[in-house]
Amino acid sequence: MQLTERINRIQISPTAAVIAEADRLKSQGVDVADFGPGEPDFPTPEHIKKAAIRAIEENKSKYTPTGGIMPLREAICAWHKRELGSSYAPKECVVNVGGKHAIFNAVSVLVQSGDEVMIPAPYWVSFPDIVKYAGGTPVYVETRPEDGFSVKAAAIEKAITSKTKLLILNSPSNPTGGVVPPDEYRGILAVCKKRNVWLMADECYSHFTYEPHKPFSIASAAESKANVIVVGSVSKTFAMTGWRIGYTLAPEALVQAVIKLQSQSTSNPTSIAQYAALEAMRGTMESVPIMLAEYAKRRKRIVEGLRAIPGVNCEMPGGAFYAFANIAETGMDSKTAADFLLNEAGVACLSGAAFGKYGEGYIRFSYANSYENLMEAVKRIESALVTVTAR
Ligand SMILES: Cc1ncc(COP(=O)(O)O)c(C=O)c1O
Repeated sequence: MQLTERINRIQISPTAAVIAEADRLKSQGVDVADFGPGEPDFPTPEHIKKAAIRAIEENKSKYTPTGGIMPLREAICAWHKRELGSSYAPKECVVNVGGKHAIFNAVSVLVQSGDEVMIPAPYWVSFPDIVKYAGGTPVYVETRPEDGFSVKAAAIEKAITSKTKLLILNSPSNPTGGVVPPDEYRGILAVCKKRNVWLMADECYSHFTYEPHKPFSIASAAESKANVIVVGSVSKTFAMTGWRIGYTLAPEALVQAVIKLQSQSTSNPTSIAQYAALEAMRGTMESVPIMLAEYAKRRKRIVEGLRAIPGVNCEMPGGAFYAFANIAETGMDSKTAADFLLNEAGVACLSGAAFGKYGEGYIRFSYANSYENLMEAVKRIESALVTVTAR
């Protein structure tokens, strides 16, 4: 079939491929401990589910405005101000079909052929492909374990050329768990402002930070608005991955362009899910610290367990729910190690190479899985890897 050059620029998400393989083995009765998916294992909080049920019962099942219902746009701005110190008006907010859609649409309206987009690496798998689909060229800026995988303002400045249009900065980071400290983040914003580069802050994991880190948005910095695009979602913070609600906070002209794009593509995000998200934004957030405390416990367990395995090193992630372990000393490359762990130990995890060349030598474990499963997995990884390192 003759498909467009545009669609051939991108590949299917490698994370989806691993999840499919783990599911195939599970369907054959293989006992797989699944550390692949980046998805909270908690249910959506009750009050949010009830709001959605109410919306169905009240027949809130019609088209809504393309950019989302006004109460939700207002509630997102109020929530972001309260939680993260920004000051956006509803006309600077658009509701999207998840955080990925928010990124896709903002990149689509900003980036075109000839533009370069800086992406700290290892990176979340969708960033480069979204940029390529828009016609842009990704430029990778390496982040290192000795810096906690946090990108530096100086490295960003060095990577900027006359073609640079945008920096996509994801903090806390998937896959590394790296968190950019506020001072460094402000330094990065200053560089972007000086060089007239847009800064897209992917805040999908904003509320999953571990001491000493705190939730932070660069939109709280003085005079940030003209250069900053905030993208976020309810997926991780409120355990709502399947509801598909995200948001963009940005200058009005950019928001209007995204609404225009949505008006000719998705139309509005699902009406029922918007009412659920409205409750998430307005209602109690008591489930968030409960999830965070559980992730913190799991983080300690998996990192300590991985560090105790000969040939494995692992930084303590500052945020999100991923342990990014260095397995280079086992002598295996990332893909071989991930396949080996799946087939020999029944542990599904992701090859670091899926997150770009700087991820080679690493494996990503998502600890959005129960404490008991984590303990079992660490045991299995250890006994499988011992046989390799002993060879
Ligand atoms: C870094 C990052 N950004 C954005 C997203 C998008 O999430 P969603 O589309 O569910 O809001 C994800 C999901 O895994 C992610 O890891």
